[in-house]
Amino acid sequence: MKRSVDRHVLYEASVQGTDVDIALFEKIFRSGPKRAPLTLREDFCGTALLARDWVASDPRRLAWGVDLHRPTLNWARKHRLSTLSEADRERVHLLEENVLNVSTPAVDLIAALNFSYMIFRERATLLQYFRSVYSGLVDDGVFVLDLFGGPHAQKVMTEQKSIPAGRDIEDTPYPAFKYFWEQARFNAVDQSILCHIHFKGRDLVPQTRAFSYTWRLWSITELRDLLSEAGFSRIDSYFEGWSDAHGSSDGVLRKRTRYEGMDAWVAYLAAYR
Ligand SMILES: C[S@@+](CC[C@H](N)C(=O)[O-])C[C@H]1O[C@@H](n2cnc3c(N)ncnc32)[C@H](O)[C@@H]1O
Repeated sequence: MKRSVDRHVLYEASVQGTDVDIALFEKIFRSGPKRAPLTLREDFCGTALLARDWVASDPRRLAWGVDLHRPTLNWARKHRLSTLSEADRERVHLLEENVLNVSTPAVDLIAALNFSYMIFRERATLLQYFRSVYSGLVDDGVFVLDLFGGPHAQKVMTEQKSIPAGRDIEDTPYPAFKYFWEQARFNAVDQSILCHIHFKGRDLVPQTRAFSYTWRLWSITELRDLLSEAGFSRIDSYFEGWSDAHGSSDGVLRKRTRYEGMDAWVAYLAAYR
């Protein structure tokens, strides 16, 4: 019998790794502010898994999650924040707001992950967002965002990844399945890219186009220039290395000023206020 599993559960199992994200934030803070980050704003938070895991990682930590989609925030409250103790839950605040206008107490760290800011396809809008992030940080605060690139990022293609059976944080079981990332269209004139996520597996009720995104594929130099224009004083780029032995990236994020010969990559930018 095929099992029907909520698309958010499958999404998290396929693309999110909050332990890796939190370890990177700590590394960035060791390199820049030289102190432990305590307050996080997770922009485009969706299911708010990062905000949830942030407060669970240290009793001193506070998080704000920002998303404008009420049903997703309701799902986050019911299925993610509910897994916290009452005391931990009080340290997470979910705001149904547009990240362009949101106002929270100034935080140590703002994260915009899984490329969500690429929804802003006009330069002026992305600059407005980066300015608003800048003013939402404490004096030595850091903004962390990720991006993907390389020649393969502009190709119409589908890649897949096998996800083993497991259980989510609420203990909901899911069978082994395949995650598909489809780059359906790329327009060289405005760098717009249309992507879909599908989930399929022998024991899973398939979900075609479970998520779709129309983004602008911003280049790293465009982002660095805009971040500087928004006021950030230093921008570090973190890339994974390559393992010849495994024929895949080595999973270790390192600060780099040179990165050559890769067909496809994911990078993180750390922008220091
Ligand atoms: C790709 S999901 C990100 C989920 C999660 N943060 C992650 O890292 O995988 C993008 C989310 O951004 C939200 N979103 C899109 N535009 C937004 C905006 N202007 N302000 C706030 N949230 C927005 C959507 O509702 C959606 O939940």
